[in-house]
Amino acid sequence: MARDKSFPQQVLVTGGTGFIGGHLISALLLRGARVTVLSRLPREASPGVTYVQSLQDVGAPAQPFAVVNLAGEPLNSGRWNERRKRLFRDSRVDLTSELVSWMGTCEQPPSAMVSASAVGWYGHRGDEVLTETSSGAPGFSHDLCAAWESAARSGLPEQTRSCVLRIGVVLGADGGSLPVMLGTARLGLGGPFGSGQQWWSWIHINDLVEMILWLLETPSCSGVFNGTAPEPVRQRDFAKTLGSVLHRPAFLPLPGAIARLMLGEFAEEVLLNGQRVEPERARALGFQFAFPALKSALDDLLG
Ligand SMILES: NC(=O)c1ccc[n+]([C@@H]2O[C@H](COP(=O)([O-])OP(=O)(O)OC[C@H]3O[C@@H](n4cnc5c(N)ncnc54)[C@H](OP(=O)(O)O)[C@@H]3O)[C@@H](O)[C@H]2O)c1
Repeated sequence: MARDKSFPQQVLVTGGTGFIGGHLISALLLRGARVTVLSRLPREASPGVTYVQSLQDVGAPAQPFAVVNLAGEPLNSGRWNERRKRLFRDSRVDLTSELVSWMGTCEQPPSAMVSASAVGWYGHRGDEVLTETSSGAPGFSHDLCAAWESAARSGLPEQTRSCVLRIGVVLGADGGSLPVMLGTARLGLGGPFGSGQQWWSWIHINDLVEMILWLLETPSCSGVFNGTAPEPVRQRDFAKTLGSVLHRPAFLPLPGAIARLMLGEFAEEVLLNGQRVEPERARALGFQFAFPALKSALDDLLG
């Protein structure tokens, strides 16, 4: 597949101060790009990176420039209630709409935008194999992701190629869910959540970052892509593999009723239900995964 020879020299990243954004920015700097990060807090510039608190402060970007949209209130920082659910939505949907409107005001709009979404878009689907052409089942996660994706598509400048990335559980040693799971797993207290039969579609952070760079630099890529490894696993097997990499037992179950009691709707939406997602489009278009299998990903991150 044809790759754009001129990698964007300037990239605007929302959510650039987070887990995925931090890894992405390191990779962008290695490619020689300059990065502007939209953040809610004032931050000091570092080599190659400037921070703005408002899109109006971005200025006239040098060409070619691209956008990666990752910002969003974390879903895993406490029990969900109506106020927090509104925040999940506003921090994604409103910010994305604002971003797209701003892009329309740029004299030279960005050549490409990669905008985050999540595999929760597919809803609770049991053992069904899900590709980018599968439909979504209604529910809070689906409705949130659908509104987020719609904001990323509506009113885009016609010069801007747009990719939406439905991201799975991102595995990294320094962020996301893995460090949280490690606490219990290292004590030998890991095990299935509920039945453990639910599918978890995961991806190594390096593969996710490479996929974002690939989408930015490949002119023929547009539309929806699943940001997951080619080998999703059942949660029970995830716990077992994590235990074996840590040389710890992993049989202590977390009963669904206790998970629901402790974590409420988050448990239902994220831990006890999942999606069996395949990155069909990325594979068909030639993207190469460095970590297609869970064991090698965990060995790399924890070895
Ligand atoms: N990590 C995963 O496993 C995973 C899986 C699927 C989808 N995703 C999605 O991918 C995106 C990035 O994930 P991540 O793990 O890197 O997230 P993260 O570490 O929590 O970072 C989120 C970023 O969003 C910004 N943010 C947080 N709350 C906000 C709010 N209320 N309003 C505006 N901005 C806010 C923060 O930037 P400032 O504090 O600088 O403003 C932060 O840098 C998220 O949208 C997430 O939903 C992640």
